[in-house]
Amino acid sequence: MQSTIEHQCDVLIIGSGAAGLSHALTLAEHCQVIVLSKSELSEGSTKYAQGGIAAVFDANDSIDYHVSDTLLAGAGLCDEDAVRFTASRAKECMQWLINFGMPFDQERDEKGETRYHLTREGGHSHRRILHAADATGEAVQLTLVEAVKQHPNIHLFQRYNAIDLIKSPTNQNTLLGAYVWNRKKERVEIIRSQFTSLATGGASKVYQYTSNPDVSSGDGIAMAWRAGCRVANMEFNQFHPTCLYHPEARNFLITEALRGEGAKLCHPDGTPFMHKFDDRGDLAPRDIVARAIDYEMKRLGADCMYLDISHKPSDFIVKHFPNIYRKCRSVGIDITQDPIPVVPAAHYSCGGVMTDSHAKTDLDNLFAIGEVAYTGLHGANRMASNSLLECIVFARSAAQFILDNLQQPKCVELIKDWDESQVDDSDEQVIIQHNWHELRLFMWDYVGIVRTNKRLERAHHRIELLKQEVNEYYSHFKVSNNLLELRNLLTVAELIVNCARQRKESRGLHFNLDYPDKLDNPQPTVLIPPKH
Ligand code: FAD
Ligand code: SIN
Repeated sequence: MQSTIEHQCDVLIIGSGAAGLSHALTLAEHCQVIVLSKSELSEGSTKYAQGGIAAVFDANDSIDYHVSDTLLAGAGLCDEDAVRFTASRAKECMQWLINFGMPFDQERDEKGETRYHLTREGGHSHRRILHAADATGEAVQLTLVEAVKQHPNIHLFQRYNAIDLIKSPTNQNTLLGAYVWNRKKERVEIIRSQFTSLATGGASKVYQYTSNPDVSSGDGIAMAWRAGCRVANMEFNQFHPTCLYHPEARNFLITEALRGEGAKLCHPDGTPFMHKFDDRGDLAPRDIVARAIDYEMKRLGADCMYLDISHKPSDFIVKHFPNIYRKCRSVGIDITQDPIPVVPAAHYSCGGVMTDSHAKTDLDNLFAIGEVAYTGLHGANRMASNSLLECIVFARSAAQFILDNLQQPKCVELIKDWDESQVDDSDEQVIIQHNWHELRLFMWDYVGIVRTNKRLERAHHRIELLKQEVNEYYSHFKVSNNLLELRNLLTVAELIVNCARQRKESRGLHFNLDYPDKLDNPQPTVLIPPKH
Protein backbone atom coordinates (compact mmCIF):
# COMPACT_ATOMS: atom_id res chain seq x y z
CA MET A 1 0.00 0.00 0.00
CA GLN A 2 1.28 3.43 -0.95
CA SER A 3 1.62 5.89 1.93
CA THR A 4 2.97 8.99 0.13
CA ILE A 5 0.08 11.36 -0.67
CA GLU A 6 -0.72 11.31 -4.39
CA HIS A 7 -2.46 13.90 -6.60
CA GLN A 8 -3.50 13.32 -10.18
CA CYS A 9 -3.98 15.41 -13.34
CA ASP A 10 -3.71 15.23 -17.11
CA VAL A 11 -0.85 17.71 -17.33
CA LEU A 12 1.54 18.72 -14.58
CA ILE A 13 3.15 22.10 -15.25
CA ILE A 14 6.15 22.88 -13.08
CA GLY A 15 6.44 26.68 -13.01
CA SER A 16 4.04 29.62 -13.04
CA GLY A 17 5.78 32.32 -15.11
CA ALA A 18 4.89 33.40 -18.64
CA ALA A 19 5.66 29.93 -19.99
CA GLY A 20 3.79 27.87 -17.38
CA LEU A 21 0.68 30.03 -17.21
CA SER A 22 0.28 30.48 -20.99
CA HIS A 23 0.62 26.72 -21.33
CA ALA A 24 -1.98 26.14 -18.61
CA LEU A 25 -4.48 28.53 -20.15
CA THR A 26 -4.18 26.92 -23.57
CA LEU A 27 -4.61 23.40 -22.17
CA ALA A 28 -7.29 23.98 -19.59
CA GLU A 29 -10.21 24.22 -21.99
CA HIS A 30 -9.80 20.51 -22.59
CA CYS A 31 -8.09 18.90 -19.60
CA GLN A 32 -7.19 19.05 -15.92
CA VAL A 33 -3.97 20.89 -15.15
CA ILE A 34 -1.89 21.26 -11.98
CA VAL A 35 0.51 24.22 -11.90
CA LEU A 36 3.33 24.18 -9.35
CA SER A 37 5.23 27.19 -8.12
CA LYS A 38 8.14 26.99 -5.78
CA SER A 39 7.35 30.27 -4.09
CA GLU A 40 4.31 32.57 -4.50
CA LEU A 41 2.46 32.22 -7.81
CA SER A 42 3.90 35.43 -9.27
CA GLU A 43 7.52 35.05 -8.19
CA GLY A 44 9.81 34.36 -11.15
CA SER A 45 11.76 36.26 -13.79
CA THR A 46 8.59 37.09 -15.71
CA LYS A 47 7.42 39.50 -13.04
CA TYR A 48 10.66 41.50 -13.27
CA ALA A 49 10.85 41.82 -17.06
CA GLN A 50 11.03 45.45 -18.07
CA GLY A 51 11.72 46.16 -21.75
CA GLY A 52 8.95 44.20 -23.43
CA ILE A 53 8.12 41.58 -26.04
CA ALA A 54 9.36 41.54 -29.63
CA ALA A 55 6.78 41.16 -32.40
CA VAL A 56 6.37 42.66 -35.86
CA PHE A 57 3.59 45.28 -35.63
CA ASP A 58 5.16 48.15 -37.61
CA ALA A 59 4.31 48.40 -41.32
CA ASN A 60 7.98 49.07 -42.18
CA ASP A 61 9.14 46.02 -40.25
CA SER A 62 8.84 42.39 -41.39
CA ILE A 63 9.21 38.85 -40.12
CA ASP A 64 12.31 38.55 -42.33
CA TYR A 65 13.90 41.49 -40.48
CA HIS A 66 13.01 39.98 -37.12
CA VAL A 67 14.57 36.70 -38.26
CA SER A 68 17.75 38.27 -39.62
CA ASP A 69 18.26 40.47 -36.51
CA THR A 70 17.87 37.40 -34.26
CA LEU A 71 20.30 35.38 -36.39
CA LEU A 72 22.84 38.19 -36.27
CA ALA A 73 22.57 38.63 -32.49
CA GLY A 74 22.85 34.83 -32.11
CA ALA A 75 26.35 34.96 -33.65
CA GLY A 76 25.98 32.09 -36.09
CA LEU A 77 24.47 29.54 -33.71
CA CYS A 78 20.71 30.04 -34.00
CA ASP A 79 18.58 27.35 -35.57
CA GLU A 80 16.97 29.31 -38.40
CA ASP A 81 13.84 27.13 -38.40
CA ALA A 82 13.28 27.83 -34.71
CA VAL A 83 13.81 31.55 -35.29
CA ARG A 84 11.33 31.70 -38.15
CA PHE A 85 8.86 29.52 -36.23
CA THR A 86 8.95 31.99 -33.33
CA ALA A 87 8.98 35.26 -35.28
CA SER A 88 6.12 34.22 -37.53
CA ARG A 89 3.88 33.31 -34.57
CA ALA A 90 4.70 36.44 -32.56
CA LYS A 91 1.81 38.66 -33.67
CA GLU A 92 -0.83 35.98 -33.17
CA CYS A 93 0.54 35.15 -29.70
CA MET A 94 0.54 38.82 -28.70
CA GLN A 95 -3.04 39.08 -29.88
CA TRP A 96 -3.85 36.06 -27.70
CA LEU A 97 -2.29 37.82 -24.71
CA ILE A 98 -4.07 41.09 -25.51
CA ASN A 99 -7.37 39.20 -25.55
CA PHE A 100 -6.77 38.33 -21.88
CA GLY A 101 -6.42 42.07 -21.17
CA MET A 102 -2.66 42.67 -21.51
CA PRO A 103 -2.27 46.48 -21.32
CA PHE A 104 0.49 47.21 -23.85
CA ASP A 105 1.21 50.96 -24.18
CA GLN A 106 -0.60 52.67 -27.01
CA GLU A 107 -0.17 55.99 -28.84
CA ARG A 108 -1.89 57.99 -31.59
CA ASP A 109 -0.45 57.92 -35.10
CA GLU A 110 -0.32 60.87 -37.52
CA LYS A 111 -3.98 60.27 -38.51
CA GLY A 112 -5.05 60.24 -34.86
CA GLU A 113 -5.61 56.50 -34.86
CA THR A 114 -4.58 54.31 -31.94
CA ARG A 115 -1.66 51.94 -32.37
CA TYR A 116 0.74 50.11 -30.08
CA HIS A 117 3.82 52.04 -29.04
CA LEU A 118 6.92 50.12 -30.10
CA THR A 119 10.29 50.71 -28.52
CA ARG A 120 13.79 49.62 -29.57
CA GLU A 121 16.46 47.54 -27.90
CA GLY A 122 19.92 46.23 -28.78
CA GLY A 123 20.17 44.22 -31.99
CA HIS A 124 16.73 45.21 -33.32
CA SER A 125 16.90 47.05 -36.64
CA HIS A 126 13.32 48.36 -36.22
CA ARG A 127 11.01 49.51 -33.50
CA ARG A 128 9.54 46.15 -32.53
CA ILE A 129 9.11 45.95 -28.76
CA LEU A 130 5.59 45.97 -27.34
CA HIS A 131 5.72 47.07 -23.73
CA ALA A 132 3.76 48.24 -20.71
CA ALA A 133 5.88 51.27 -19.72
CA ASP A 134 9.05 49.83 -18.17
CA ALA A 135 7.30 47.06 -16.21
CA THR A 136 6.06 44.76 -18.98
CA GLY A 137 6.69 41.55 -17.06
CA GLU A 138 4.57 42.59 -14.12
CA ALA A 139 1.68 43.32 -16.47
CA VAL A 140 2.12 39.96 -18.25
CA GLN A 141 2.24 38.07 -14.97
CA LEU A 142 -0.80 39.89 -13.56
CA THR A 143 -2.80 39.33 -16.74
CA LEU A 144 -2.06 35.60 -16.77
CA VAL A 145 -2.54 35.12 -13.02
CA GLU A 146 -5.97 36.77 -13.17
CA ALA A 147 -6.99 34.40 -15.96
CA VAL A 148 -5.67 31.16 -14.41
CA LYS A 149 -7.25 31.95 -11.05
CA GLN A 150 -10.65 32.01 -12.72
CA HIS A 151 -10.25 28.74 -14.56
CA PRO A 152 -11.93 25.74 -12.91
CA ASN A 153 -9.60 23.22 -14.62
CA ILE A 154 -6.39 24.85 -13.38
CA HIS A 155 -5.29 23.80 -9.91
CA LEU A 156 -2.61 26.00 -8.39
CA PHE A 157 -0.13 24.41 -5.97
CA GLN A 158 1.94 27.22 -4.46
CA ARG A 159 5.08 26.70 -2.36
CA TYR A 160 5.64 23.26 -3.84
CA ASN A 161 9.14 22.35 -5.12
CA ALA A 162 9.37 19.66 -7.75
CA ILE A 163 12.23 17.43 -6.59
CA ASP A 164 12.58 14.87 -9.35
CA LEU A 165 10.70 13.40 -12.29
CA ILE A 166 9.42 9.84 -11.89
CA LYS A 167 10.24 7.45 -14.71
CA SER A 168 8.09 4.46 -15.52
CA PRO A 169 9.83 1.22 -14.45
CA THR A 170 8.46 -0.49 -17.58
CA ASN A 171 9.27 2.20 -20.16
CA GLN A 172 12.31 4.33 -19.42
CA ASN A 173 11.27 6.87 -22.05
CA THR A 174 8.07 7.73 -20.20
CA LEU A 175 7.33 9.64 -17.03
CA LEU A 176 4.65 8.90 -14.45
CA GLY A 177 4.86 12.34 -12.83
CA ALA A 178 7.04 13.96 -10.17
CA TYR A 179 7.99 13.86 -6.50
CA VAL A 180 7.27 17.26 -5.00
CA TRP A 181 8.13 18.93 -1.68
CA ASN A 182 5.14 20.55 0.00
CA ARG A 183 6.89 23.40 1.77
CA LYS A 184 3.95 24.28 4.00
CA LYS A 185 3.44 20.76 5.33
CA GLU A 186 7.14 19.86 5.02
CA ARG A 187 6.46 16.55 3.35
CA VAL A 188 7.11 14.89 0.01
CA GLU A 189 4.07 14.12 -2.17
CA ILE A 190 3.53 12.57 -5.59
CA ILE A 191 1.83 14.19 -8.58
CA ARG A 192 0.84 11.66 -11.21
CA SER A 193 0.27 13.00 -14.72
CA GLN A 194 -0.12 11.87 -18.30
CA PHE A 195 2.16 14.70 -19.48
CA THR A 196 4.65 16.85 -17.58
CA SER A 197 5.89 20.27 -18.69
CA LEU A 198 8.91 21.98 -17.20
CA ALA A 199 8.48 25.77 -17.10
CA THR A 200 10.94 26.41 -14.29
CA GLY A 201 12.80 29.38 -15.80
CA GLY A 202 16.53 29.90 -15.98
CA ALA A 203 19.61 29.28 -13.89
CA SER A 204 21.29 32.67 -13.46
CA LYS A 205 21.23 32.26 -9.68
CA VAL A 206 24.33 30.13 -10.19
CA TYR A 207 26.24 33.45 -10.39
CA GLN A 208 26.92 35.73 -7.47
CA TYR A 209 25.54 38.83 -9.20
CA THR A 210 22.32 38.40 -11.10
CA SER A 211 19.21 40.26 -12.19
CA ASN A 212 17.15 37.13 -11.46
CA PRO A 213 14.98 36.28 -8.46
CA ASP A 214 15.91 33.44 -6.08
CA VAL A 215 13.71 30.86 -7.82
CA SER A 216 15.98 30.88 -10.92
CA SER A 217 18.11 27.97 -9.72
CA GLY A 218 17.95 25.83 -12.84
CA ASP A 219 15.79 23.12 -11.23
CA GLY A 220 14.13 22.06 -14.48
CA ILE A 221 17.42 21.71 -16.31
CA ALA A 222 18.86 19.62 -13.48
CA MET A 223 15.75 17.43 -13.19
CA ALA A 224 15.59 16.78 -16.93
CA TRP A 225 19.30 15.95 -17.02
CA ARG A 226 18.92 13.47 -14.14
CA ALA A 227 15.95 11.92 -15.98
CA GLY A 228 18.06 11.38 -19.11
CA CYS A 229 17.42 14.39 -21.38
CA ARG A 230 20.07 16.08 -23.49
CA VAL A 231 21.05 19.61 -22.56
CA ALA A 232 22.68 22.11 -24.93
CA ASN A 233 24.58 25.42 -25.12
CA MET A 234 24.89 26.00 -21.39
CA GLU A 235 28.11 28.00 -21.89
CA PHE A 236 25.99 30.84 -23.24
CA ASN A 237 24.81 32.52 -20.06
CA GLN A 238 23.82 36.05 -20.88
CA PHE A 239 25.08 38.94 -18.74
CA HIS A 240 22.83 41.97 -18.90
CA PRO A 241 25.05 45.03 -19.30
CA THR A 242 23.17 47.39 -17.01
CA CYS A 243 22.08 46.49 -13.50
CA LEU A 244 21.89 49.33 -11.00
CA TYR A 245 25.07 49.57 -8.93
CA HIS A 246 23.95 50.66 -5.49
CA PRO A 247 24.21 48.95 -2.08
CA GLU A 248 20.47 49.39 -1.41
CA ALA A 249 19.23 48.15 -4.80
CA ARG A 250 20.22 44.52 -5.15
CA ASN A 251 19.41 42.94 -8.55
CA PHE A 252 17.58 45.94 -10.01
CA LEU A 253 17.76 46.04 -13.80
CA ILE A 254 18.01 49.19 -15.92
CA THR A 255 16.22 48.25 -19.11
CA GLU A 256 17.96 48.23 -22.47
CA ALA A 257 15.01 50.27 -23.74
CA LEU A 258 16.71 53.26 -22.06
CA ARG A 259 19.50 52.92 -24.61
CA GLY A 260 16.81 52.30 -27.24
CA GLU A 261 15.47 55.77 -26.42
CA GLY A 262 18.90 57.45 -26.52
CA ALA A 263 20.75 56.77 -23.23
CA LYS A 264 24.56 56.56 -23.54
CA LEU A 265 27.07 54.49 -21.61
CA CYS A 266 29.87 56.67 -20.20
CA HIS A 267 33.03 56.53 -18.14
CA PRO A 268 32.91 58.02 -14.63
CA ASP A 269 34.10 61.35 -16.18
CA GLY A 270 31.14 61.35 -18.60
CA THR A 271 32.98 60.23 -21.78
CA PRO A 272 30.84 57.90 -23.98
CA PHE A 273 32.69 54.74 -25.02
CA MET A 274 30.50 52.22 -26.88
CA HIS A 275 31.37 53.62 -30.35
CA LYS A 276 34.95 52.35 -29.74
CA PHE A 277 33.67 48.75 -29.54
CA ASP A 278 30.96 48.46 -32.18
CA ASP A 279 29.51 50.51 -35.04
CA ARG A 280 26.07 50.08 -33.52
CA GLY A 281 27.35 51.87 -30.40
CA ASP A 282 25.05 51.67 -27.39
CA LEU A 283 22.61 49.49 -29.32
CA ALA A 284 25.07 46.72 -30.12
CA PRO A 285 23.93 43.23 -28.99
CA ARG A 286 24.22 42.52 -25.30
CA ASP A 287 27.29 40.28 -25.32
CA ILE A 288 29.32 43.07 -26.92
CA VAL A 289 28.03 45.77 -24.56
CA ALA A 290 28.54 43.66 -21.40
CA ARG A 291 32.09 42.78 -22.43
CA ALA A 292 32.86 46.41 -23.25
CA ILE A 293 31.68 47.53 -19.79
CA ASP A 294 33.67 44.75 -18.11
CA TYR A 295 36.74 45.75 -20.14
CA GLU A 296 36.43 49.45 -19.31
CA MET A 297 35.82 48.77 -15.60
CA LYS A 298 38.96 46.61 -15.42
CA ARG A 299 41.03 49.03 -17.53
CA LEU A 300 40.08 52.07 -15.43
CA GLY A 301 39.90 50.21 -12.11
CA ALA A 302 36.32 51.53 -11.77
CA ASP A 303 33.55 49.92 -9.68
CA CYS A 304 30.93 50.68 -12.33
CA MET A 305 30.20 52.56 -15.54
CA TYR A 306 27.40 55.12 -16.02
CA LEU A 307 24.27 55.24 -18.17
CA ASP A 308 23.09 58.74 -19.00
CA ILE A 309 19.68 59.72 -20.36
CA SER A 310 19.58 63.13 -18.68
CA HIS A 311 19.86 64.96 -22.06
CA LYS A 312 16.25 63.90 -22.82
CA PRO A 313 13.31 66.01 -21.56
CA SER A 314 12.38 65.12 -17.97
CA ASP A 315 8.71 64.45 -18.76
CA PHE A 316 9.70 62.04 -21.56
CA ILE A 317 11.93 60.11 -19.15
CA VAL A 318 9.35 59.95 -16.38
CA LYS A 319 6.56 58.94 -18.77
CA HIS A 320 8.53 56.15 -20.45
CA PHE A 321 10.45 54.84 -17.45
CA PRO A 322 8.31 55.53 -14.38
CA ASN A 323 9.42 52.41 -12.54
CA ILE A 324 13.13 53.05 -13.04
CA TYR A 325 12.69 56.72 -12.23
CA ARG A 326 10.97 55.85 -8.92
CA LYS A 327 13.44 53.13 -7.97
CA CYS A 328 16.50 55.29 -8.67
CA ARG A 329 14.91 58.25 -6.89
CA SER A 330 14.38 56.04 -3.83
CA VAL A 331 18.16 55.56 -3.57
CA GLY A 332 18.97 59.20 -4.23
CA ILE A 333 19.56 59.16 -8.01
CA ASP A 334 17.48 61.50 -10.18
CA ILE A 335 17.77 59.99 -13.66
CA THR A 336 16.46 63.17 -15.28
CA GLN A 337 19.61 64.93 -13.97
CA ASP A 338 22.21 62.29 -13.03
CA PRO A 339 23.90 59.42 -14.83
CA ILE A 340 22.99 55.98 -13.43
CA PRO A 341 25.78 53.78 -12.00
CA VAL A 342 25.58 50.36 -13.70
CA VAL A 343 27.37 46.98 -13.78
CA PRO A 344 26.72 43.77 -15.73
CA ALA A 345 24.97 40.84 -13.99
CA ALA A 346 23.98 37.28 -14.96
CA HIS A 347 20.61 37.56 -16.62
CA TYR A 348 19.51 34.76 -18.91
CA SER A 349 20.31 31.10 -19.70
CA CYS A 350 20.42 30.73 -23.49
CA GLY A 351 21.03 27.00 -23.16
CA GLY A 352 18.81 24.40 -21.53
CA VAL A 353 16.85 21.23 -22.11
CA MET A 354 16.83 20.32 -25.81
CA THR A 355 13.41 20.55 -27.39
CA ASP A 356 11.73 20.56 -30.78
CA SER A 357 9.13 23.00 -32.11
CA HIS A 358 6.46 21.41 -29.87
CA ALA A 359 8.77 21.89 -26.86
CA LYS A 360 9.08 18.10 -26.67
CA THR A 361 12.20 16.78 -24.93
CA ASP A 362 13.97 13.43 -25.36
CA LEU A 363 11.35 11.77 -23.13
CA ASP A 364 7.99 10.90 -24.72
CA ASN A 365 5.72 12.82 -22.36
CA LEU A 366 8.06 15.52 -21.04
CA PHE A 367 8.05 19.09 -22.40
CA ALA A 368 10.29 22.07 -21.57
CA ILE A 369 9.04 25.59 -22.21
CA GLY A 370 10.48 29.06 -21.69
CA GLU A 371 13.89 29.83 -20.28
CA VAL A 372 14.45 26.24 -19.12
CA ALA A 373 14.51 25.10 -22.76
CA TYR A 374 17.01 25.17 -25.57
CA THR A 375 14.90 25.59 -28.71
CA GLY A 376 17.66 26.94 -30.96
CA LEU A 377 16.10 30.42 -31.02
CA HIS A 378 18.83 32.31 -29.17
CA GLY A 379 22.04 30.74 -30.48
CA ALA A 380 25.12 32.18 -28.81
CA ASN A 381 23.38 35.34 -27.62
CA ARG A 382 19.70 36.07 -27.06
CA MET A 383 18.36 39.22 -28.64
CA ALA A 384 16.51 41.45 -26.16
CA SER A 385 12.79 40.80 -25.69
CA ASN A 386 12.80 37.51 -27.59
CA SER A 387 12.40 35.41 -24.44
CA LEU A 388 8.93 36.31 -23.23
CA LEU A 389 7.94 35.75 -26.83
CA GLU A 390 9.57 32.31 -26.83
CA CYS A 391 7.70 31.44 -23.60
CA ILE A 392 4.31 32.11 -25.15
CA VAL A 393 4.95 30.73 -28.65
CA PHE A 394 6.27 27.41 -27.35
CA ALA A 395 3.75 27.17 -24.48
CA ARG A 396 0.96 27.29 -27.02
CA SER A 397 2.62 24.98 -29.50
CA ALA A 398 3.32 22.37 -26.80
CA ALA A 399 -0.24 22.64 -25.53
CA GLN A 400 -1.62 21.96 -28.99
CA PHE A 401 0.60 18.88 -29.35
CA ILE A 402 -0.47 17.57 -25.94
CA LEU A 403 -4.16 18.11 -26.69
CA ASP A 404 -3.78 16.21 -29.95
CA ASN A 405 -2.22 13.30 -28.05
CA LEU A 406 -4.27 13.13 -24.84
CA GLN A 407 -5.65 9.69 -24.12
CA GLN A 408 -8.02 8.05 -21.68
CA PRO A 409 -5.89 6.88 -18.71
CA LYS A 410 -4.88 3.21 -19.09
CA CYS A 411 -3.69 0.80 -16.40
CA VAL A 412 -2.05 2.65 -13.53
CA GLU A 413 1.53 1.77 -12.66
CA LEU A 414 2.44 1.89 -9.00
CA ILE A 415 4.76 4.72 -7.97
CA LYS A 416 7.24 3.96 -5.21
CA ASP A 417 6.80 5.79 -1.92
CA TRP A 418 9.31 8.52 -1.13
CA ASP A 419 11.69 6.73 1.23
CA GLU A 420 12.67 8.81 4.25
CA SER A 421 13.55 5.86 6.50
CA GLN A 422 17.30 6.50 6.20
CA VAL A 423 17.33 10.28 6.61
CA ASP A 424 17.45 12.63 9.59
CA ASP A 425 16.83 16.30 10.34
CA SER A 426 19.93 18.22 9.32
CA ASP A 427 22.43 18.88 12.12
CA GLU A 428 24.49 21.51 10.24
CA GLN A 429 22.56 23.81 7.87
CA VAL A 430 25.73 25.92 7.61
CA ILE A 431 27.12 23.45 5.06
CA ILE A 432 24.35 24.44 2.65
CA GLN A 433 24.87 28.17 3.17
CA HIS A 434 28.62 27.90 2.83
CA ASN A 435 28.58 25.79 -0.32
CA TRP A 436 25.90 27.92 -1.91
CA HIS A 437 28.06 31.07 -1.48
CA GLU A 438 31.24 29.35 -2.57
CA LEU A 439 29.63 28.01 -5.72
CA ARG A 440 28.17 31.33 -6.81
CA LEU A 441 31.38 33.20 -6.12
CA PHE A 442 33.70 30.93 -8.11
CA MET A 443 31.19 30.75 -10.96
CA TRP A 444 31.30 34.56 -11.11
CA ASP A 445 35.10 34.74 -10.89
CA TYR A 446 36.03 31.79 -13.11
CA VAL A 447 33.08 31.23 -15.47
CA GLY A 448 31.87 34.82 -15.90
CA ILE A 449 32.05 37.29 -18.77
CA VAL A 450 35.68 36.47 -19.63
CA ARG A 451 36.95 32.90 -19.26
CA THR A 452 40.29 31.09 -19.62
CA ASN A 453 41.12 27.39 -19.73
CA LYS A 454 42.76 27.62 -16.32
CA ARG A 455 39.75 29.31 -14.74
CA LEU A 456 37.43 26.67 -16.20
CA GLU A 457 39.65 23.88 -14.82
CA ARG A 458 39.63 25.50 -11.38
CA ALA A 459 35.85 25.71 -11.45
CA HIS A 460 35.64 22.08 -12.58
CA HIS A 461 37.74 20.85 -9.61
CA ARG A 462 35.74 22.81 -7.11
CA ILE A 463 32.46 21.49 -8.51
CA GLU A 464 33.73 17.90 -8.09
CA LEU A 465 34.51 18.54 -4.41
CA LEU A 466 31.22 20.27 -3.70
CA LYS A 467 29.30 17.52 -5.47
CA GLN A 468 30.69 14.85 -3.17
CA GLU A 469 29.82 16.89 -0.10
CA VAL A 470 26.33 17.84 -1.24
CA ASN A 471 25.43 14.37 -2.50
CA GLU A 472 26.43 12.87 0.82
CA TYR A 473 24.39 15.49 2.65
CA TYR A 474 21.41 14.88 0.35
CA SER A 475 21.38 11.15 1.10
CA HIS A 476 21.51 11.62 4.89
CA PHE A 477 19.21 14.54 5.61
CA LYS A 478 15.62 15.52 4.92
CA VAL A 479 15.04 17.79 1.92
CA SER A 480 14.59 21.53 2.24
CA ASN A 481 14.24 24.32 -0.31
CA ASN A 482 17.87 25.44 0.08
CA LEU A 483 19.24 21.92 -0.18
CA LEU A 484 17.18 21.15 -3.30
CA GLU A 485 18.27 24.38 -4.96
CA LEU A 486 21.93 23.87 -4.08
CA ARG A 487 21.86 20.36 -5.51
CA ASN A 488 20.33 21.69 -8.73
CA LEU A 489 22.67 24.68 -8.96
CA LEU A 490 25.64 22.35 -8.70
CA THR A 491 24.35 20.26 -11.58
CA VAL A 492 23.78 23.40 -13.63
CA ALA A 493 27.26 24.72 -12.81
CA GLU A 494 28.74 21.42 -13.94
CA LEU A 495 26.78 21.58 -17.21
CA ILE A 496 27.88 25.18 -17.84
CA VAL A 497 31.53 24.37 -17.18
CA ASN A 498 31.43 21.20 -19.28
CA CYS A 499 29.92 23.07 -22.23
CA ALA A 500 32.44 25.90 -21.81
CA ARG A 501 35.34 23.43 -21.74
CA GLN A 502 34.12 21.82 -24.95
CA ARG A 503 33.93 25.05 -26.93
CA LYS A 504 37.34 25.81 -28.42
CA GLU A 505 36.51 29.30 -29.68
CA SER A 506 35.02 32.60 -28.55
CA ARG A 507 31.53 33.30 -29.81
CA GLY A 508 28.62 35.39 -28.59
CA LEU A 509 28.36 35.17 -24.82
CA HIS A 510 31.21 32.69 -24.46
CA PHE A 511 34.57 34.48 -24.47
CA ASN A 512 37.73 32.48 -23.68
CA LEU A 513 41.06 34.34 -23.78
CA ASP A 514 42.81 31.09 -24.75
CA TYR A 515 40.65 30.74 -27.87
CA PRO A 516 39.87 34.36 -28.82
CA ASP A 517 38.79 33.57 -32.42
CA LYS A 518 35.69 32.11 -34.00
CA LEU A 519 35.81 28.70 -35.67
CA ASP A 520 34.31 28.08 -39.10
CA ASN A 521 31.19 25.98 -39.12
CA PRO A 522 30.14 26.35 -35.45
CA GLN A 523 27.85 23.81 -33.82
CA PRO A 524 25.75 23.84 -30.64
CA THR A 525 27.36 22.13 -27.65
CA VAL A 526 25.19 19.11 -26.86
CA LEU A 527 25.68 17.15 -23.62
CA ILE A 528 24.33 13.60 -23.42
CA PRO A 529 23.50 12.33 -19.92
CA PRO A 530 25.23 9.17 -18.70
CA LYS A 531 23.08 5.99 -18.73
CA HIS A 532 22.32 4.71 -15.21
P1 FAD B 1 9.97 32.33 -14.77
O1 FAD B 1 9.13 33.50 -15.04
O2 FAD B 1 11.30 32.55 -14.20
O3 FAD B 1 9.13 31.34 -13.87
C1 FAD B 1 9.70 30.18 -13.33
C2 FAD B 1 8.67 29.48 -12.49
O4 FAD B 1 9.14 28.18 -12.15
C3 FAD B 1 8.35 30.14 -11.17
O5 FAD B 1 6.97 30.05 -10.96
C4 FAD B 1 9.06 29.27 -10.14
O6 FAD B 1 8.46 29.26 -8.86
C5 FAD B 1 8.91 27.92 -10.78
N1 FAD B 1 9.88 26.92 -10.37
C6 FAD B 1 11.22 26.89 -10.56
N2 FAD B 1 11.73 25.76 -10.05
C7 FAD B 1 10.71 25.05 -9.54
C8 FAD B 1 10.59 23.81 -8.86
N3 FAD B 1 11.65 23.04 -8.61
N4 FAD B 1 9.37 23.42 -8.45
C9 FAD B 1 8.28 24.18 -8.66
N5 FAD B 1 8.32 25.36 -9.31
C10 FAD B 1 9.52 25.78 -9.73
N6 FAD B 1 12.64 38.93 -21.45
C11 FAD B 1 11.99 39.59 -22.43
O7 FAD B 1 11.60 38.97 -23.42
N7 FAD B 1 11.75 40.92 -22.31
C12 FAD B 1 12.15 41.65 -21.24
O8 FAD B 1 11.91 42.83 -21.17
C13 FAD B 1 12.85 40.98 -20.20
N8 FAD B 1 13.30 41.67 -19.13
C14 FAD B 1 13.85 40.96 -18.09
C15 FAD B 1 14.19 41.64 -16.92
C16 FAD B 1 14.66 40.94 -15.83
C17 FAD B 1 15.02 41.67 -14.56
C18 FAD B 1 14.82 39.54 -15.90
C19 FAD B 1 15.31 38.76 -14.72
C20 FAD B 1 14.51 38.86 -17.07
C21 FAD B 1 14.03 39.57 -18.17
N9 FAD B 1 13.69 38.91 -19.35
C22 FAD B 1 13.06 39.59 -20.34
C23 FAD B 1 13.78 37.46 -19.45
C24 FAD B 1 12.40 36.86 -19.19
O9 FAD B 1 11.75 37.61 -18.19
C25 FAD B 1 12.49 35.42 -18.75
O10 FAD B 1 13.29 34.69 -19.62
C26 FAD B 1 11.09 34.80 -18.72
O11 FAD B 1 10.24 35.57 -17.90
C27 FAD B 1 11.16 33.39 -18.20
O12 FAD B 1 9.84 32.94 -18.03
P2 FAD B 1 9.59 31.46 -17.57
O13 FAD B 1 8.13 31.29 -17.50
O14 FAD B 1 10.41 30.54 -18.38
O15 FAD B 1 10.23 31.41 -16.08
C1 SIN C 1 15.66 44.78 -20.69
O1 SIN C 1 14.60 45.36 -20.54
O2 SIN C 1 16.75 45.33 -20.89
C2 SIN C 1 15.64 43.30 -20.63
C3 SIN C 1 15.14 42.81 -21.90
C4 SIN C 1 15.42 41.36 -22.03
O3 SIN C 1 16.10 40.77 -21.19
O4 SIN C 1 14.94 40.79 -23.01
